[in-house]
Formats: sequence, C-alpha cells, structure tokens
Amino acid sequence: MLVGGEGTRLRPLTEWIPKPALTLVDRPFLAYMIEWLAGHGVTEVVLACGFLPDVLRAALAGEEERAGAKIRYVVEPEPLGTAGAIRFAAEELGEDLDDRFLALNGDVLTDLDLAALLRAHAERGTTATIALHPVEDSSAYGLVRSGEGGEVLEFLEKTGERAPGEVNAGIYVLERSVLDLIPPGESVSIERDVFPRLVGDGLQALRLDGYWMDIGTPERYLRASWDILEGRVETRVGPTAPGILVAADANVAESATVGPRAVLGPGCRVRSGAEVRESVLLDGCVVGENAHVAGSILSPGVEVAPGAILGGAVVGRDERVPAG
Ligand code: GDD
Ligand code: MG
Repeated sequence: MLVGGEGTRLRPLTEWIPKPALTLVDRPFLAYMIEWLAGHGVTEVVLACGFLPDVLRAALAGEEERAGAKIRYVVEPEPLGTAGAIRFAAEELGEDLDDRFLALNGDVLTDLDLAALLRAHAERGTTATIALHPVEDSSAYGLVRSGEGGEVLEFLEKTGERAPGEVNAGIYVLERSVLDLIPPGESVSIERDVFPRLVGDGLQALRLDGYWMDIGTPERYLRASWDILEGRVETRVGPTAPGILVAADANVAESATVGPRAVLGPGCRVRSGAEVRESVLLDGCVVGENAHVAGSILSPGVEVAPGAILGGAVVGRDERVPAG
C-alpha cells in the first residue's frame, strides 16, 4: 500500500500527520482499508512509507490486532513515485513477496469486491489488472478506456477534462514481472510511466460496482465522513445519530446545536449558543459561545473564539480562530 505522499491537498490537516493516518470519523484512515483487506483474506499489509513514517506507525499501533492482519513498514529514503515505491518495497521484501500481489493507493475508502478483481486477473492470465470506478468528473483521476474483454486501450493520467468516465481506482493486481519495467532507485510513476507501456501488452481492467472515494481533498474527506455516518459504505463505525458522531467524552452545551452532519472528536467542547454543522472537529477542539462552524475541518486542539463565524475552512493544529 502506497502511503508515502505528502497529502498536499489536505494541508494544513496533513502538516504533521500523513493522510493515511489522519482520523476519519473515529479512526485512522488506514484502519478502514486494512479492515477491508483483511475482510477479503489479506493477512499481511506492507506500507510503503516516506513522509512522517513514525507518526504513521504510532497512529496504527494496535491496528494489527484489531484487523487481524500483519503490518510491515518500508521507508523510502526519498519519494520514489508510485511505481518506484512499489519496486523499492519489493526489493526490501525479497522472497517474502509473492509472484502475484496487490498494490493499492493508501487513500481510498471502499468496499469494492477484491475477490472479483483477483478472479478476473487469474482467469485472464494477465500481467496487471486495474480496478475501475465510474465517475461524473474524471479530471482529477487516471481515465481508463477498455475494450469488451477488459483489455486497456488507453490510460490517461489527469486529463484535466471534466468528462465522465471510468477511472483508475488505485487498486491493482500485479505480477512480479511488472517490477522489471521499473528502473531501480529512480522516481517512477505507475500511472504515467508503467501503465501506458503495458497498454496492449497485458494491462487489463475490471469495473467494480460499490462504494469508492479518494479522501485526498477537504471536500471528499467530508463526503466520506457523511457516507460513513449515513451508512453508504459499510464500516465498523457506530454513529451517535444518522450523520453524527459525538465522542463519549465530548461536551455539548444544552443550548448548542450539533448537526445536521457533524463529528465531534474526543474532548471537544461546544459552548452555549454555538452551532456546528457539516463539520469535523478532531480531538480537543473548543467552539466558543455563539460561534458558528459550518462545512469545515478542524485539526486537533483548535479553538474557535466566542461569536466567530467559520465556513468552509480547514484549520491547522492548535490554531485559534478569532471572532470577526
Ligand atoms: N511511498 C510512496 N512514495 N507513496 C506515494 C508516493 C511516493 O513517492 N507518491 C504518492 N504516494 C501515495 C500517496 O500517499 C497516495 O496514497 C497514493 O500514492 C496516490 O497518490 P495521490 O497523490 O493520492 O494520487 P491521486 O489521488 O492524485 O491519483 C491517484 O489516485 C487516483 C485514485 O484515487 C492515481 O493513481 C490516479 O490514476 C487514480 O485515479
Ligand atoms: Mg489520492
């Protein structure tokens, strides 16, 4: 699993924590992915890390036991790109890596049927199989055109064109031979350098129906939160009410309003007359009297001053939001 990116589009949330370790609703994001993988029989997950690996490790402490899958960490000395990271991890693993393995982006919340992907790959006896997900706007993704038998005809990374289409879901079944296409020790992109070379030469795709969301922007992070809390994706999270999760020790004044749609992390306090809606407040945030927070994401320890109004904001750790 590729988890070495800097999560730039989620800054300042990701200034001190890698995106895959960031809390989504009530657990580190990767916990969802690892549980999903374990549910499909995966017993060992290798995290290809680069950015803040120790923070990632600390956030995932205990996850091995909870999910029932072993977690290994491989740390790149410098970012090697999505393919370079796979090659680097494969070299570190040596004989421990099977001839056929899964490779995944570490920022997709999904319940897609991995078994179907593995089956298609095996039946077609191919080199690489990509899971596809249909979207209305493919501009921010890898757009894939495939033929009737699933063969990839074209792989276009980030066209910038807002056209509907089937996109690369960031979930691959690969044969070890793919590693030969990746020069060692260099930054190489699987989307731009490797997949285009495999078109017509063993690159297959399979559209899978189900839930899929890349959580890499504030808008999608919030959408994923509501999808979890409103049951559009199957997880182990138990909402306090539909669309709402309030941590057991969070404190909400009687005259305050929380929701529709809100996450209040452990230790959060919402003072009297305040309102929090369509927002996620991570650990220990305080919303002062009569303050309003809407459509925002607050890092741990943020304080919103009494009477302040905050809309569509992403606030960094321990910041103070003044009134007016
Ligand atoms: N180890 C390592 N090293 N990991 C990396 C590196 C690296 O140099 N660069 C990126 N990653 C990891 C990120 O941490 C993330 O989990 C994953 O690779 C994908 O990177 P993103 O930056 O999130 O890519 P994207 O969302 O813009 O596009 C990718 O995902 C889309 C689906 O969500 C592409 O694979 C698209 O083709 C795809 O449609
Ligand atoms: Mg992404």
